Amino acid sequence: MQVNGKAYRTIWFENNVVKIIDQTKLPHQFIIKDLKTVKDSINAIKTMEVRGAPLIGATAAYGLVLSILEKNDQSFLKKSSEDLIASRPTAINLKWAIDRMMKKLSGINSNEILKVALEEANAIVEEDVTFCKNIGVNGLKIIEEIANKKKDTVNILTHCNAGWLATIDWGTATSPIYHAHQKGIKVHVWVDETRPRNQGANLTSYELNEEEIPNTIIADNAGGILMQRGQVDMCIVGTDRTLSTGDVANKIGTYLKALAAKDNNVPFYVALPSSTIDWNIKDFKKIPIEERNSEELSHVEGVDENKNVRKVRIYPEKSKALNLAFDITPAKYVTGLITEKGICEASETALKKIFK
Ligand code: MRU
Repeated sequence: MQVNGKAYRTIWFENNVVKIIDQTKLPHQFIIKDLKTVKDSINAIKTMEVRGAPLIGATAAYGLVLSILEKNDQSFLKKSSEDLIASRPTAINLKWAIDRMMKKLSGINSNEILKVALEEANAIVEEDVTFCKNIGVNGLKIIEEIANKKKDTVNILTHCNAGWLATIDWGTATSPIYHAHQKGIKVHVWVDETRPRNQGANLTSYELNEEEIPNTIIADNAGGILMQRGQVDMCIVGTDRTLSTGDVANKIGTYLKALAAKDNNVPFYVALPSSTIDWNIKDFKKIPIEERNSEELSHVEGVDENKNVRKVRIYPEKSKALNLAFDITPAKYVTGLITEKGICEASETALKKIFK
């Protein structure tokens, strides 16, 4: 998608280096960063220079390519794969991408391994672009239906950033929105700020602005009253791991938004590529929920009047804070899953029907 009128993807491989957009610097600075080693890739995922389930999967896949470039050795590759999987726990795309790469690389001789690894990492990236595009084509139908009925702007609420910055291109939750906008349907997006890291305000609003899509940032707790006032036509969010049961793990606060949507008869959709489905775990309590540094809550970063980026503490120095990064929305609150293969009910039967 566009940044300053120029089309970008979030990650690419060039001259044996992985290029990423450093998302910790957005929206104040647009910086392209080089990842040269597997350690650089692990660090980029941990510190959230790259984030969003599909993008961390792709970064991990390229991380293995960098590992082979550093040292073409099976035990180094195995250690790299384990360290990459451990870099963030909740998004299943990370393990999915590493498992896919390692399966392809097992038994390949050392003369060929780099070529095979790069081809597979590129395939993961291209596949994600196609899947996200198809999610948009499928989700567009829902927006179109609302627009035809309403004959006015469609107001869509989203949480966190499940935009192109969280994938390679298009995004998941935003892809139907981009497709609707390109078709000339009037849309307006309510962007949850998404404390503590503000991915909504810093990333979703930023990318929608670049594509000239009307959007308004709201405090995370504002969605409820907007729904009561009839100012939200639908919600679309992304997901870091969706169980085959249809239960959805996503950024902290998603669950409360789904509860408010249910209470107000607002359709609540989750957009995802099949790489985000966990076919193994059946009990959502077994999904590992990432707990991040409490400093993400107690400190905020922004620009001062001289346009210098500054970080300040906003909590009492002695206060403790708990920073859980994800929550679970049970399937019963999900109106439908928008996937690359079509829209289905959030249930094992429906998911199996379109994917197996
Ligand atoms: O902690 P983050 O910023 O990586 O969390 C991202 C989300 O929760 C997204 O909604 C999810 O990864 C879907 S991305 C298409």
